[in-house]
Amino acid sequence: MTSAATATRTARDQRRTLRPTGEERLLAPDDLIVSKTDLRGVITYANESFLRCSAYAEEEVIGRPHNLVRHPAMPRAVFSLLWDTLARGEEVFAYIANLAADGATYWVLANVTPSYDAAGKVVGYHSSRRAPSPGALAAVRPLYQRLLAEERRHTSGPAAAAAGAALLCSVLAEQGLTYDEFVWSLIARGGF
Ligand SMILES: Cc1cc2nc3c(=O)[nH]c(=O)nc-3n(C[C@H](O)[C@H](O)[C@H](O)COP(=O)(O)O)c2cc1C
Repeated sequence: MTSAATATRTARDQRRTLRPTGEERLLAPDDLIVSKTDLRGVITYANESFLRCSAYAEEEVIGRPHNLVRHPAMPRAVFSLLWDTLARGEEVFAYIANLAADGATYWVLANVTPSYDAAGKVVGYHSSRRAPSPGALAAVRPLYQRLLAEERRHTSGPAAAAAGAALLCSVLAEQGLTYDEFVWSLIARGGF
């Protein structure tokens, strides 16, 4: 096996064995977590706040897929929405629970945007994240729990993501909102 393949396997094994401890790490009000990725979502840059909150060293994150910090309680539907929005060349705002290397959970309000070269071609993605307000999280947690419960009824990943996305759409449609409008309604209420 090549050393790159060994590294990928080791990373995957580590992630599989990493379980949330239940500890919640709160971001400071002035924390701004930044990362950049290539077109496949492989991390090319992470700032000091990213490394501190995720408890990873820089060399452990650069070159790794961004699902390195994926939390098992996050519904797939949110990531489908994120990638679908980026594929349209648009920016996306999303509340995301992340899993740190030490098992702590840290919630963020993320803004993810395409990055363009001088010719206007998308060459990667950029994400900045801030601490979400407690009020926003009080609305987001039960929604995500509902989506996750729906997704867990399905054995295939794509079917789970589709079912979660359909439920997300219908729950928010009852309130007359898209996901983007839902996020902005929470920001308007409580600030991030
Ligand atoms: C710029 C950028 C930032 C991202 N930030 C996160 C993040 O903070 N947490 C996360 O779980 N996924 C993030 N993602 C999405 C991941 O690439 C991935 O889709 C997600 O973790 C779901 O992984 P899975 O398909 O293995 O379930 C980001 C993607 C991009 C392009």
